[in-house]
Amino acid sequence: MALMERLIKARDNGELILIDGGMCVFHLRRDRQLTITEIVSTRKGAGSEMLDKLKKVEGAHSIFAKCPAGWKSNKFYEKQGFELEKTEEQPAKKNQNQGFFSQEEVGKKINCWRLTLVKKKRASLGLI
Ligand SMILES: CC(C)(COP(=O)(O)OP(=O)(O)OC[C@H]1O[C@@H](n2cnc3c(N)ncnc32)[C@H](O)[C@@H]1OP(=O)(O)O)[C@@H](O)C(=O)NCCC(=O)NCCS
Repeated sequence: MALMERLIKARDNGELILIDGGMCVFHLRRDRQLTITEIVSTRKGAGSEMLDKLKKVEGAHSIFAKCPAGWKSNKFYEKQGFELEKTEEQPAKKNQNQGFFSQEEVGKKINCWRLTLVKKKRASLGLI
């Protein structure tokens, strides 16, 4: 899907955050993983502000983001307390349907970051 189509879809689903100096597109899955599909900041501090909004999204149990291993923005996730869940190789197929990265990233290492908001055990017991 092209960027503009994804933006419109996200807007219509309430999954687009626009603040002064920041934009974030996300998707809350049925399994309660909130995936950041795009996040960009033009003002220091905007990234943290958007993350605060994501943490308040109703029903989200974790926040997940993928980031090419060589990108500086990995530091952002690290500093925000995300855990590096795994590092994978970006397959060519994913690029056809998902907005994450360009063809240039195919075959490169991708870091998978996760911030746990609700511990799984308690959630599965229906305590939350
Ligand atoms: C990732 C991004 C959205 C973070 O937004 P931001 O407004 O810069 O984030 P904040 O200012 O709230 O930063 C929070 C902390 O993370 C650190 N950080 C953020 N981006 C960083 C970067 N690129 N390199 C190193 N540290 C970074 C900040 O220094 C800050 O730490 P501090 O509190 O100790 O100073 C922004 O850097 C960006 O737009 N990057 C380009 C797009 C991109 O790579 N998006 C992610 C795709 S995976």
